[in-house]
Amino acid sequence: MKLKILVTGGAGFIGGHVALYLADKSFHVTVLDNFERSSDYIINRLKKFNNIDIVREDLRYSDRIKDLLKNFDIIVHAAAYIDVEESMKDPWSYIHNNYYTTKNITDHLNKRQKIIYLSSAAVYGEPEKIPVKEDDEKRPISPYGLSKLLGEKTIVYNSICRGYRYVIFRLFNVYGIGQNRSYAGVITIFIDRVIKGLPPIIYGDGLNIRDFIHVEDVAEAVYMAVEREDFSGIYNLGSGTGVSIKDLAQMIIDISGRKDLKPIYTRPRPGDIRFSVADITRISEKLRFKPRKDLYEGLTSLYYHVRKTYIDQNSRP
Ligand SMILES: NC(=O)c1ccc[n+]([C@@H]2O[C@H](COP(=O)([O-])OP(=O)(O)OC[C@H]3O[C@@H](n4cnc5c(N)ncnc54)[C@H](O)[C@@H]3O)[C@@H](O)[C@H]2O)c1
Repeated sequence: MKLKILVTGGAGFIGGHVALYLADKSFHVTVLDNFERSSDYIINRLKKFNNIDIVREDLRYSDRIKDLLKNFDIIVHAAAYIDVEESMKDPWSYIHNNYYTTKNITDHLNKRQKIIYLSSAAVYGEPEKIPVKEDDEKRPISPYGLSKLLGEKTIVYNSICRGYRYVIFRLFNVYGIGQNRSYAGVITIFIDRVIKGLPPIIYGDGLNIRDFIHVEDVAEAVYMAVEREDFSGIYNLGSGTGVSIKDLAQMIIDISGRKDLKPIYTRPRPGDIRFSVADITRISEKLRFKPRKDLYEGLTSLYYHVRKTYIDQNSRP
């Protein structure tokens, strides 16, 4: 019997790709989302699968979550607010949403179930050294990072009482097709600007280092964690390679051929981490997982996808 899987936040960018990947592997997947920050691209693709059900529910306030959860073997928990800058302006909505979504799930899980939580590199805050390892200090510097750490702690402590199994993936910067434009990451924002003939805007000196992982690689790691019943614990999920924001902007300019575009530098943003690169030894050894997508290749295909969509939209009569 194939496992039954619930993906929370499955109408969003990463949860959506995970749901599509699992459905493609013939799992029956239920996507749960309140559609507050969903992605139209993802929703259109989800609707094409007949082994994906879609449920509208807000995990903060749901009365029927307890009954709903009984139907599933595995919960991939991706629902959250994800914007660091917004969290600096509105900390409590981040703490509230990202904590209660997680609490309201884990309060009802039992020992035959497993949760795969999509956490974030933001839990580390500013690491003392990179690449950062899973057991290094956790000192989040944004309410977003704190809310994700709170989510992790909730999962770990509740599992002691309730006996469910858990996998926590600390995702680094994830990119790919289908991010909600209002909450998009740096790659999508740079590509959007360059396609419109505008230079990328860099906050700070451009020397901040990030570790970018393609969303299809994340989906594959989740799939492997679903397939391996005995697999549990806390894992970094990044590419293991750091790239400066300045170099990233240049790569996108090179791909576009718009060498005339010169990045604009502006004030650094509060909450932004200076250096963030994953040590991926643990996940490589324990799950035998290695990201496959090369950054330049991933950027190129994303660039051409976004460009085509832009041209199609703007050529409509
Ligand atoms: N995007 C990244 O680079 C990145 C990096 C590290 C970690 N993560 C984590 O991955 C997960 C998914 O991120 P994403 O980029 O797909 O974000 P996203 O905003 O695209 O998707 C999140 C989805 O969750 C839904 N949601 C939010 N609160 C909800 C609630 N209370 N009830 C029901 N649904 C709710 C939203 O409507 C949205 O569809 C998040 O938990 C995030 O913390 C993302």
